[in-house]
Amino acid sequence: MKYKSQKVAYWFFALSMLLLSLQIIYGFVMGFAHMGYDNLHDFIPFNTARAVHTNLLVVWLLSGFMGAAYYIIPEEAENELVSVKWAYIQLISLAIVGVVAVVGYHFNYWEGRKFLEIPRPLDWLVVINVLLFLGLILATLFKGKKRTTTSLVLTMGLFFAALLYLPGMVWFDNQTMDSFFRWWVVHLWVEGVWELIMGGILAFLLIKITGVDREVIEKWLYVIVGLTFISGILGTGHHYYYIGTPRYWLIIGGIFSALEPLAFLAMALFTVAMYRKGEKKHPNKIALQWTLGTAIVSFVGAGLLGLAHTLPQVNMWTHGTLVTAMHGHLAFWGAYGMIVFAIISYTMPNMTGRKLYDSPNGQYAFWLSNIGMIGMTTAFAAAGVAQVYMERIMGMEFGDAQKEIQVHFIILVLCATLFTVGVGLFIYEFIKYGRPTDEALEPHQ
Ligand code: HEM
Ligand code: HEM
Ligand SMILES: [Fe+2]
Repeated sequence: MKYKSQKVAYWFFALSMLLLSLQIIYGFVMGFAHMGYDNLHDFIPFNTARAVHTNLLVVWLLSGFMGAAYYIIPEEAENELVSVKWAYIQLISLAIVGVVAVVGYHFNYWEGRKFLEIPRPLDWLVVINVLLFLGLILATLFKGKKRTTTSLVLTMGLFFAALLYLPGMVWFDNQTMDSFFRWWVVHLWVEGVWELIMGGILAFLLIKITGVDREVIEKWLYVIVGLTFISGILGTGHHYYYIGTPRYWLIIGGIFSALEPLAFLAMALFTVAMYRKGEKKHPNKIALQWTLGTAIVSFVGAGLLGLAHTLPQVNMWTHGTLVTAMHGHLAFWGAYGMIVFAIISYTMPNMTGRKLYDSPNGQYAFWLSNIGMIGMTTAFAAAGVAQVYMERIMGMEFGDAQKEIQVHFIILVLCATLFTVGVGLFIYEFIKYGRPTDEALEPHQ
């Protein structure tokens, strides 16, 4: 670690791991409910569990991204963070807004719009929180000595993510209009600006770990940003096929969303190429493993499994079924979960001064979580395809089809257990590193 203020990142990562643990608990509640054991129904009905599960996901990822930015921006800009105190205030207010929202869902204080369940009054608190975060990051960047492509791409991603939260706050009486703009948030986040955040963190990690020249790595970053925007913006059309929008979206959405995997493919090829070109001297092998992992698993989960249901001819059958959950899990995990794990693995030894990266637990954490998640994805796929045939092709009632596919959730819960052991080991290692300390500061001019 080069700057004292980078230590702030640790607490964002700690919050991130705490919320991930809670998210997993709600995942199990739903896994058991799908198996037919919905015993908690009176306290946590399925819709509540689902909203809590997905919202906690978004908040732990955002907390991870913010931690990453608080670590990366001072180092890239060569300047201390402008205010550590305000960064802690931002952290605490983020935690409070997250907790209030999630508790509120248990008392029906929510909007039933998938992923955007936070009620509008609370949205304003989110806005204030994010403005504070962006203020700190931008001020640090502009006061700093350098503005590297890596830090600009990361900041651009964070800035546009904040901006794109706003279309979800406009009030519409019309269902189609509401749905139309809901996708500006949900789709343009994960298939647009979050990819810039991922690209920025990936570039930073590769520069540090492989030792390849910054110029080479940052050239690739332009290609990734270009491919993301060319495909992702009009690719939003793959959510406009059957929601009451004009028919031209069938063609536009089909063509452009089918190109989206190219950005993920470019990221995978880029990461592997930089790894092969690199010196392989860096001791933090586990951080490298998560970095390579995120590039490859995101290509499979987002790119290939997204492509699997993105054409209108397929999506007319699979829309809103467990096929979507299949893709949603591996995409979110591979792209955004794993990049957060990668930056945590890289920064922990630097912030704490303890070099614990070579432990067997670290290896088990990587393999068990990934094998578990691939197993879960496969179980969702089997359940989803069966659901499509029974419900959409044979015309069975929704509930009857759900009963028939209960059996797949036994495998799902078993694989989720493997995944949870892996994540548990990762968090155990995180705790073992202990707190960040000033003694870990590297001398610099
Ligand atoms: C890391 C990137 C990605 C993540 C995290 C992600 C995640 C998700 C999630 C959570 C949903 C469900 C959203 C909802 O119904 O509210 C979804 C839907 C969808 N995704 Fe992705 N996705 C990613 C990339 C992609 C890509 C690259 C493609 C296409 C090639 C794609 C194709 C689709 C399609 C077609 C749907 C709609 C499914 C339906 O009609 O029910 N996704 N995605
Ligand atoms: C390990 C324990 C987990 C279990 C048992 C689990 C299970 C589930 C279940 C049963 C659903 C609801 C599917 C439905 O609508 O019927 C769901 C939704 C979802 N989960 Fe998980 N999950 C787990 C972990 C995760 C993780 C780690 C992530 C992300 C990295 C994740 C991302 C999602 C997403 C994005 C959705 C919404 C999918 C959609 O929109 O269709 N889950 N999960
Ligand atoms: Fe999309």
